[in-house]
Amino acid sequence: MPKRSWAEPFKIKMVEHLRMTTREERERAIAEAGFNTFLLRSADVYIDLLTDSGTSAMSDRQWAGMMLGDEAYAGSANFYHLEEVVRRYYGYQHVIPTHQGRGAEHILSRLCIRPGDIIAGNMYFTTTKAHQELVGGKFVDVIIDAAHDPDSEHSFKGDIDLGKLQRVIDQFGATKIAYLCVGATVNMAGGQPISLANLRDVSALCRKHGIRIFLDATRAVENAYFIKLREPGQADRTLTDILRDLCACTDGCTMSGKKDCLVNIGGFLALNDDELADAARNMVVLFEGLHTYGGLAGRDMEAMAIGIQESVDFDHMRARIGQVEYLGRLLIEGGIPLVRPVGGHGIFLDAARFLPHLPREQFPAQSLAAALYVDSGVRAMERGAVSAGRDATTGRNIFPSLELVRLTIPRRVYTQAHMDVTAESVIELHRNREKIVGLRFTYEPKHLRFFQARFEPVEGKRVLRV
Ligand code: F0G
Repeated sequence: MPKRSWAEPFKIKMVEHLRMTTREERERAIAEAGFNTFLLRSADVYIDLLTDSGTSAMSDRQWAGMMLGDEAYAGSANFYHLEEVVRRYYGYQHVIPTHQGRGAEHILSRLCIRPGDIIAGNMYFTTTKAHQELVGGKFVDVIIDAAHDPDSEHSFKGDIDLGKLQRVIDQFGATKIAYLCVGATVNMAGGQPISLANLRDVSALCRKHGIRIFLDATRAVENAYFIKLREPGQADRTLTDILRDLCACTDGCTMSGKKDCLVNIGGFLALNDDELADAARNMVVLFEGLHTYGGLAGRDMEAMAIGIQESVDFDHMRARIGQVEYLGRLLIEGGIPLVRPVGGHGIFLDAARFLPHLPREQFPAQSLAAALYVDSGVRAMERGAVSAGRDATTGRNIFPSLELVRLTIPRRVYTQAHMDVTAESVIELHRNREKIVGLRFTYEPKHLRFFQARFEPVEGKRVLRV
C-alpha cells in the first residue's frame, strides 16, 4: 500500500515571533542563569521544551470561552460547566477547582496523611512528594523494575508491582498507608503509561485492604491513548471510555489542568467520598479561594472545561503523541541514548550514557541541558539527581537510577521543522560530547532545589567547550 501520511488536525491562526540568538549571547545567558535552564529568560530561548505545563496553545473555541467568563466570587456559571465536564469525562462526583495541580496535592495531602504515614506510588513526582513529606508522610515507590531501566521496551512501564505493594502492606500494615498515589502517565519514568489491567488488579488489592487510591490525572488522557494503542481488547474503544475506566479504579484525583486539559493555568481536586469532599471544600477556602473558584478566574475554568472536551478527541491525541514519536524516531536513528519506548509528553535523554565521562556527582543531566541551550537555544529540563534532591533523613544527595534530560513538547505549539532543528542539535552535541563539562552547586535552595539552584562548571567558565 502507498504511504498515507496524516498531519495536525488544526491550522495556525496567530503566530508568536521567536528571537534568534547567537552562541555568544546564549553563553552569557546561561552563565547568568547559573547554568540552570529554569532561570533563563524565555525571551532568550528559541525552542522552549522546558515543560509541557501551561505551555499549550489554546484553541479559538477556548479563547472564545474566555469571553464568557462569569467573574462572580461565588457560584460562577463557569464552575458549574467545569463540574459537569469533569463528571462526564472523568466520572468523579465532587469537583474542587485549584490554581494548579500542586494546589490539589496540598489539600489532599493535608486531609489524608498523618505524620509517619506511608504513601505508596508508581514513582514519585517532585511537587506531589514534597507535599506528602511536608505533612510528615513518607513516599515508597512500588513501580515495576522495568520503569527504572531506560532500555526496557515494556509497553506499560508505569505499572505497579503487586508484589512490592503487598510487601509494603505487610511491612507497615494497611492502616499506616494513607493512600496509593497512582500516576498516569508516569512523568519521572519518561511519560510511561499504566495499563488498565494492572490498575484493576491494584484496585482490587487496595479495596481488599481498605486502602484508598488517588490518581494523578495530569496526563491521564495521554495514558488512555497508549491503552487504546497497546492494551489487548482496547483498540476499538474511545479515549473517553478508557479514561472513565481508569478513574473508576480510584477514589479521586489531583489534576494539573496545565497539561492534558490544554490551559495555561488551572487544576482541580476531584473526589467521590462526600465527607472527604466537604472537608476539602472547607480547606480550599484557606489556601486557594472559595470552593467554586479555587484560585481561578471564571474565564480560566471555562477554558479548562472546553479544553477537557478537546483533549479526549482521538485525532488531537494522535497528533500530540505522534509529534513526540517523530522527534524520538529522529534521535533513535541518530544513535542517541534515550528512554524507550518513547513516552507521551516528551523525549527523555539518558544523560548518564550520553556523557559517560561525567560522574553523577557532576550532574550530567544538568550539564547536558545547559550545553543544549548553548548549542541551539533549545531549552530542556534536568530530571535526575538535582530533581531528586536530598534524602530527608540523611541529608545526602539522592542519585536515582535515571539521570535524564527531558525535551518536553508543548501541545499544538511547535511544527515538525522545530523537531528537526532540535534533533539535529542533540545529534551534533552527542558527536561532540567530550566538550561538555560537569557542574557543581554554587547555591542550593531547601525545597524543590531544581527550580532555583545555581551552578558553575567544575573547570573553566564554559559548560560547552569551543
Ligand atoms: N503531577 C504531575 C505528574 C506533574 O507533571 C505536575 C507538574 C504536577 C503534578 C504538578 O502540577 O505544576 O500544575 O502544580 N509538572 C510540571 C512538569 C511542572 O514540568 O512536569 P502543577
